[in-house]
Amino acid sequence: MDNNTNKNIKNNNHSEEKVRIFDTTLRDGEQTPGVSVNPEKKIKIAYRLDELGVDAIEAGFPIVSNGERESIKTIVKQGFKANIYGLARTVKTDIDAALACDLQYIHTFIATSEIHMKYKLNMNKEQVLERAIWAVEYAKKHGLEVEFSAEDATRSDRDFLIKVFKSVQEAGANRIDIPDTVGYATPEYISSLVKEVSENLSIPISMHCHDDFGQAVANSLAGINSGANCAHVTINGIGERAGNASLEEFVMSLQCLYNRKTNIKTQLLYEISKFVSNTMGIIVQPNKAIIGENAFGHESGIHTHGIINNPLTYEPISPELVGRKRWLQAGKHAGAHGIKAMLNEFGVNPTDEELQKIVEQQKIVADKGKSITTAELLSISGQVMGNTKFEEKFTLHDFHIVTGLNIIPTAVIQLSTQGKEYIASEIGVGPVDSALKAIQKIAVEVAKIKVREYRLESITGGSDALAEVSVKVEDNFGNVVSARKSGADVVVASVQAMMDAINKVMLRKVLES
Ligand code: KIV
Ligand code: ZN
Repeated sequence: MDNNTNKNIKNNNHSEEKVRIFDTTLRDGEQTPGVSVNPEKKIKIAYRLDELGVDAIEAGFPIVSNGERESIKTIVKQGFKANIYGLARTVKTDIDAALACDLQYIHTFIATSEIHMKYKLNMNKEQVLERAIWAVEYAKKHGLEVEFSAEDATRSDRDFLIKVFKSVQEAGANRIDIPDTVGYATPEYISSLVKEVSENLSIPISMHCHDDFGQAVANSLAGINSGANCAHVTINGIGERAGNASLEEFVMSLQCLYNRKTNIKTQLLYEISKFVSNTMGIIVQPNKAIIGENAFGHESGIHTHGIINNPLTYEPISPELVGRKRWLQAGKHAGAHGIKAMLNEFGVNPTDEELQKIVEQQKIVADKGKSITTAELLSISGQVMGNTKFEEKFTLHDFHIVTGLNIIPTAVIQLSTQGKEYIASEIGVGPVDSALKAIQKIAVEVAKIKVREYRLESITGGSDALAEVSVKVEDNFGNVVSARKSGADVVVASVQAMMDAINKVMLRKVLES
């Protein structure tokens, strides 16, 4: 088996046709609770989506606000390769709002399930059918290409659903979409539904699956394998409640498990996932498939041993395929092979006996619940190998910050380096700024190391939200290194990232000297 395709799974009948990727990050994704993206950010994201190779971008819901219409209009003007869609209910105001954005493509929807018709629309089946036909005819009369969605399709009466789909096809719809609006369907149900719908229609079918039971990707795949040729997806799987099918997982599953192709440039997946996460302020869980931080990280000794001998032992695909790199982590599960590989990367070659001691010592640190940075691992190896040049160069002892409404934020930092104690204080525009300036004051004096870039990459949720910080520092030889830390306290995470980055660049200096 090569590492890009699972040869155990037979191609289905549609395998030559590329699967169409309809990205709804800017519409359903923006409906993630608490998220609102300004026009400037929307346009930047649209650029990245087009670069990624999605076939369609649902740019927004034109009726919702002036700002939304302005962003959609601007996105339409960019002349992207992707088709640009706007969402509209089956009402004149919504379709007119879409037309006012100069859209050529519209995604119009009305609910077809009993529960939605009765409790939300207050309409009967005949009225819903009539409205669906009217909307498609009206949009077509105005020159739009139409994708019609029967909202809550998977909880709708099947005969009625098929009647609606057949009628909108007759009215001129270009495609129909099957939303699993509350993520309630199983892959088996989706298969039988899509088969029946496709037997009754001649226009293409899309899937739109939500992830309430974690089935969104499996359901989208089941739809594709049963006759649909397009899926609505979002970057990082963001969206209403538990989100939508994740673009990365869906595309990679299609390609690697089912040997189906899309127009997606998979090498850009990680970079664009990060970009969307940072721009929209929605953190990706570390264990998320394909794009989570841990997806290609290895700590356990058994695994790292296997990985070093042949990456396919514990990686289903090469990380490079999705624009990533594998990484090994020191820690209590780590074994000699992994630690050796990490040290070798820095040109450190311990003997077998030394290696054994390094592994044991880093396990003692890990057992205290500490995560071990590269700098710390090298410091341990320096002690074991009797080579002080690998010792951690900067050790933080304490810091203290005062901030408030009528107080200039001030930080006091206490650290030691090269056997000497240093205390520095600095003021700044905020607590992080003052803390980093105080550390930098010492770092410049002792080793000519300055902060080059600081990014508070993502922050979500309430007052206990997680912040992810990355700091880049540069020494006087032009060596630039970065370090990341995440944590609930943004100041602590920033100080730790800064210390880690300084120690890494110090080690580089030492190893190159
Ligand atoms: O989940 C859903 O049903 C939707 C519709 C607007 C298609 O997002
Ligand atoms: Zn949806």
